Amino acid sequence: MSDSVNRRHFLSVSAAASLGASVLGAAAPVPVGSKRPIVVASGNGLQTVEKAMERIKAGADPLDAAIEGVAIVEADPEDHTVGYGGIPNEEGVVELDAAVMHGPTHGGGSVASLRNIMHPAAVARLVMKRTDHCLLVGEGALKFARAHGIPETNLLTDEAREIWLHWKETNGKESDWIAPPNSELSPAVRKFFGIREHGTLHCSALDTHGNLGCVTTTSGLFYKIPGRVGDSPIMGAGLFLDNEVGSAGSTGRGEANLLNLSSHTIVEGLRRGLAPKDALLEACKRIVATNRNPRLRDAKQRPNFQVKFYCVAKDGRYAGASLWAGAQMAVHDGDSARLVDCASLYDDPEPN
Ligand code: GLY
Repeated sequence: MSDSVNRRHFLSVSAAASLGASVLGAAAPVPVGSKRPIVVASGNGLQTVEKAMERIKAGADPLDAAIEGVAIVEADPEDHTVGYGGIPNEEGVVELDAAVMHGPTHGGGSVASLRNIMHPAAVARLVMKRTDHCLLVGEGALKFARAHGIPETNLLTDEAREIWLHWKETNGKESDWIAPPNSELSPAVRKFFGIREHGTLHCSALDTHGNLGCVTTTSGLFYKIPGRVGDSPIMGAGLFLDNEVGSAGSTGRGEANLLNLSSHTIVEGLRRGLAPKDALLEACKRIVATNRNPRLRDAKQRPNFQVKFYCVAKDGRYAGASLWAGAQMAVHDGDSARLVDCASLYDDPEPN
């Protein structure tokens, strides 16, 4: 690259970065390297991988790129599992969990039960960069975000409130709340009849220097007990990376990952030389082996819940796998973004 092309490259990169930096606090870009970048995400992350790859190609740090990618979904009222528009806890309050890990520094930060902040992943990065800690929760996390001038927002959209209200009106025989006839309910409310998702968005990014970054962000289990924290903000459970090995993360029933430190298990599998798909399926099998709670087993003693895993290895190989069939992941390999089918431990579709 000539000096003038280089200067032009840095000017356009700086302009884009300063726009992102004002909202999301990204670091200054570095020149792009020569390795093939890869970005993977959960199936709700197609726009995420597109944005993250765009930023990586402009020289952004892989974690900054991933955070900019997930910010699109965090701000999307249509995704009821992440950020703004997330389904609230049982009291109708949206509580968000998020964590980030940065490969080159092996740094990490997270927030849990954070209210009123649309971009918890960006706050998690501030915990990593601007404190000596790894995890801030609840009121302390909110005060920390306020101290950094992060704007507060009512995260409960009308649609999420209506979905929650219908759950409240139909949950339990002793309730004094009365639901209207189904014919009066909106299609959005009807779509979520009987569903308690663990949704979530994970993104792992490998940049052109072979450096990794990852983020997991969620509004957690629908109608959760206030203060319930899932796997997403827990490093080793909802995400993990080692810059010399690979990056992994998960969506689905977080308690299963908390009890098995699944993302750490996956990265350790990659370290032992397992192929990405096999490392993910090993984590699935670990969940099956340790799931001894009869409430969480089907008639064949299999988990009656879904967990999905995604990983990218240091050399660019990647995979997605889940307990039950039908899951997809988003991938950008530097050429194009697309949804691809995940492998699964069982051939049957996800139980309801
Ligand atoms: N995996 C997201 C959660 O359980 O909250």
